[in-house]
Amino acid sequence: MGSEVKPAKHGLRRHLNAGFVAGFLLVLLTYVIVSQQFAMETPTAVTSRAPRIDENESVTKARVETEKTEQEWQRPKDTSGAVSAEGFSKRDSTNAKPIENGKVVCSSNGFYSDTCDVDGDVRINGTALSVTLVPASRRSERRREWKIQPYPRRTVSGIAEVTVTRQQDQAAAPACTVTHGVPGVVFALGGLTGNYWHDFSDVLVPLFVASRRYGGEVQFLVSNIQPWWLGKYEAVVRRLSRYDAVDLDRDTEVRCFRRVTVGLRMHKEFSVKPELAPGGQRLTMADFAAFLRDTYALPRAAAAGAKRPRLVVIRRGHYRKIVNMDEVVRAAEAAGFEASVMSPRFDEAVEEVARRVNAFDAMVGVHGAGLTNAVFLPAGAVVIQVVPYGRLERMARADFGEPVADMGLRYMEYSVAADESTLLEMLGPEHQVVKDPEAVHRSGWDKVAEYYLGKQDVRINVARFAATLAAAFDHLRPSHS
Ligand SMILES: *[C@@H]1O[C@H](CO)[C@@H](O)[C@H](O)[C@H]1NC(C)=O
Ligand SMILES: *[C@@H]1O[C@H](CO)[C@@H](O)[C@H](O)[C@H]1NC(C)=O
Repeated sequence: MGSEVKPAKHGLRRHLNAGFVAGFLLVLLTYVIVSQQFAMETPTAVTSRAPRIDENESVTKARVETEKTEQEWQRPKDTSGAVSAEGFSKRDSTNAKPIENGKVVCSSNGFYSDTCDVDGDVRINGTALSVTLVPASRRSERRREWKIQPYPRRTVSGIAEVTVTRQQDQAAAPACTVTHGVPGVVFALGGLTGNYWHDFSDVLVPLFVASRRYGGEVQFLVSNIQPWWLGKYEAVVRRLSRYDAVDLDRDTEVRCFRRVTVGLRMHKEFSVKPELAPGGQRLTMADFAAFLRDTYALPRAAAAGAKRPRLVVIRRGHYRKIVNMDEVVRAAEAAGFEASVMSPRFDEAVEEVARRVNAFDAMVGVHGAGLTNAVFLPAGAVVIQVVPYGRLERMARADFGEPVADMGLRYMEYSVAADESTLLEMLGPEHQVVKDPEAVHRSGWDKVAEYYLGKQDVRINVARFAATLAAAFDHLRPSHS
């Protein structure tokens, strides 16, 4: 029997430390590449910043505001038309009777990602990074080939493309050496992972969307595999797939499947568009959050109407710090919260962070990767994003505002004024960065990233901030739930 059903292994933790360094260097590298590349192509669409680890960790990323429309590829005609996993699970491991010629449906999602769903007699040669659909009989359609970047932001460099081929006949089809009874999902790691926000936005959320419907009965095939990453998110990955991931680039087998999804599809930043979820499941970001609560056995599913709700302020170690943290904590206490400060570290076990965060009812943080932890808050909790000075609201909303609302949390925003930004004292009121953010944005991405994201700390005007805190408190009052 050729099927591979390996038991879960837990040997990945030891890769973690090496992984930080690797991830750190990788992110540094992609920062340079990404920022250069995107500054030219889509000046206002991308954010990227010099990354650090630990508290200095930040959101290095590539973003898009506008999605290009379809290219020459077809959009999946019917997202609800996908076959359920059942047909595969009991399949005999012989590959003798292909049911039909099968089909390849590729879709293009603008800036983010291209993916192909391949159904039929699918054969994967890992070292060649090729996915081939072999017909049962000579087909009338001609041979066709697609190149897929299996990391969901196609503009990220350094990711090898996977070639998807629809053969016209069986000639030269490689013979199966391993036959899988479950569907496969091919994706790449690396890219911008290593940044906490990207770990979720680029991989965990899209992977959840791609594989949740299989209930663990799915084989992941990973190009550019990062054992530290799989170790860090082991609980999540293991819950999505019961099988050890295949290190695709080094795989010498020819693996055969009845269904393979090539590439991960990102619908939007750090969130899901339910209507685009495969199999008509209408998965939501709230489903993802519930899945995480379950995975990490988090005790609180909903923020209960506590008399004194608990609020956490996320501390950043480096730029975009709140310099008057004590004042902010006192203001939160004055508003009725039991307030504390948290400094999530990149090397901390996700499970620990998740558990700590889940105890809170409200979160306050300056735009940055730390806010990713909102995903562990109980439903109905409040997130206040402090948006640094410099017209960053649009980006802030796309990265966290919408995702947080999609998770079933209440999103609030506090925009920092010039006189609350350290840029004012650093540069003086006459500097263009202080005086005219619009002009800075027009000049391109580099200066936006350099100043507003990279050189700014904030001194929150707690008198003004009090109104936001009061609204958050009001939202959490027992009478409201
Ligand atoms: C997979 O592809 C590589 C590169 O084209 C080739 O050398 C190798 O023989 C293929 N493997 C199998 C088992 O066919
Ligand atoms: C984080 O930033 C602080 C303040 O600039 C610095 O002292 C510390 O060494 C940095 N830590 C790391 C890991 O870069």
